[in-house]
Amino acid sequence: MERPLTQHIPDNGAALHLREYEAVGGYTALRKALRDMEPAQVSTLIKDANLKGRGGAGFATGVKWSFVPMNVPGPKYLIANADEMEPGTFKDRWLLEGNPHQLLEGMILAAYAIQATDAFVFLRWAYKDAAREMRRAIADAYTAGYLGKNILGSAFSLEMQLHTGVGRYMCGEETALLNSLEGKRATPRAKPPFPQVSGLFGKPTIVNNVETLCWISHIVNNGEAWFKSLSYTADGGTKIYGVSGRVNKPGAWELPMGITMRELLEEHAGGMRNGYRFRGALPGGASTDFLTDAHLDVKMDFAGVAAAGSRLGTGTMVVLDDHTCPVGFVHNLEHFFAQESCGFCTPCREGLPWTEKILWSLENGTGEPADLELLERHTRLLGPGNTFCALAPGAMEPLQSALKYFREDFEQHIKEKKCPYAHHQH
Ligand code: NAI
Repeated sequence: MERPLTQHIPDNGAALHLREYEAVGGYTALRKALRDMEPAQVSTLIKDANLKGRGGAGFATGVKWSFVPMNVPGPKYLIANADEMEPGTFKDRWLLEGNPHQLLEGMILAAYAIQATDAFVFLRWAYKDAAREMRRAIADAYTAGYLGKNILGSAFSLEMQLHTGVGRYMCGEETALLNSLEGKRATPRAKPPFPQVSGLFGKPTIVNNVETLCWISHIVNNGEAWFKSLSYTADGGTKIYGVSGRVNKPGAWELPMGITMRELLEEHAGGMRNGYRFRGALPGGASTDFLTDAHLDVKMDFAGVAAAGSRLGTGTMVVLDDHTCPVGFVHNLEHFFAQESCGFCTPCREGLPWTEKILWSLENGTGEPADLELLERHTRLLGPGNTFCALAPGAMEPLQSALKYFREDFEQHIKEKKCPYAHHQH
């Protein structure tokens, strides 16, 4: 069944500029909210729509906003987390480059709901085109009166800035992001207190993902029932899904939440390339557990993927084919995670390079049978509850599931003292 899509991303790769955005209904939600809605009504609407955060964790957006104390004087902050660095994930980039004003309008509405005084787009350093488009969009929004003092003649004022990061994965973790924005080293902070209460410079702060914020204007315009009706399942809305790997048409598409992995792979990504067989996929970026061909009918929403033993994460799938060594694949990911550890807590700082070293030795024919047990131990010791943030536990997800689903590949490396795929890979 065809469902209407909302995100207005041009097909030609060019960004929608202010006049074009206004021509497709841009900034009508902001006019409506400032004219007809109290800030609390905007919050309640988003809460009732049950918009789940699109950054990976799926925390309910309206619930998050409701934790902001409304009666304290002084500044409050709204931050768009555009530090998209999850391996295999390029959905926010598509939104940033394609429709920057949609993000800005969502941010202004979110800021109005929590009565923020200042907003920041925290953008990944490498997203140069997105930086150019965002800079232009912010300047145009100021000129048009959508930002600055007394927006559209209302009592609400908001200042907005673009901040480009320095290219570290850690900066995407919301409290490390806050430290980075304050000019400090990007290590995570202890939670609680959550940023909603004590965030940037100790003030109430909301950090939302780009895709999440891109929803706000549409929900304000069309209501919660409309939002819920877009989804195949109870989660509501559409999702920007992506697929990379040896498929015919890698890419990103806006599709109803809850589409199956099979439909995503076969209909939208065009199926596997000739000569390659599907062995498995990380459903939502690198820090999720593998799913295999036994899971192809899993519904890609938060509950569906969790029930299959993984996480929806960012909803951008990385496909493993039968010509690619699973040990080499996981080694590559652990190399990334080890490099990106901020070094603050010991299990992550020491455990990730150790994990990477074991995988390297397996891949290079010097692994030993005891290494598999050691890797299993690492997945527990670096798992949830043992580290300061979610980086290392996330890094253990592809490893623990690879040991489960592709164990014979690990064993073969030890037995044959080499990578059995070496002649295949190109
Ligand atoms: P989390 O579950 O700790 O928090 C998610 C959000 O909910 C945060 O904003 C947090 O403040 C809020 N929250 C959670 N529990 C709360 C409570 N009890 N009270 C108030 N607020 C609460 O997850 P985290 O560590 O922020 O993010 C992990 C996720 O990030 C993973 O699922 C991963 O898939 C994703 N990720 C995405 C990346 C990307 O490039 N998009 C990169 C790396 C990870």
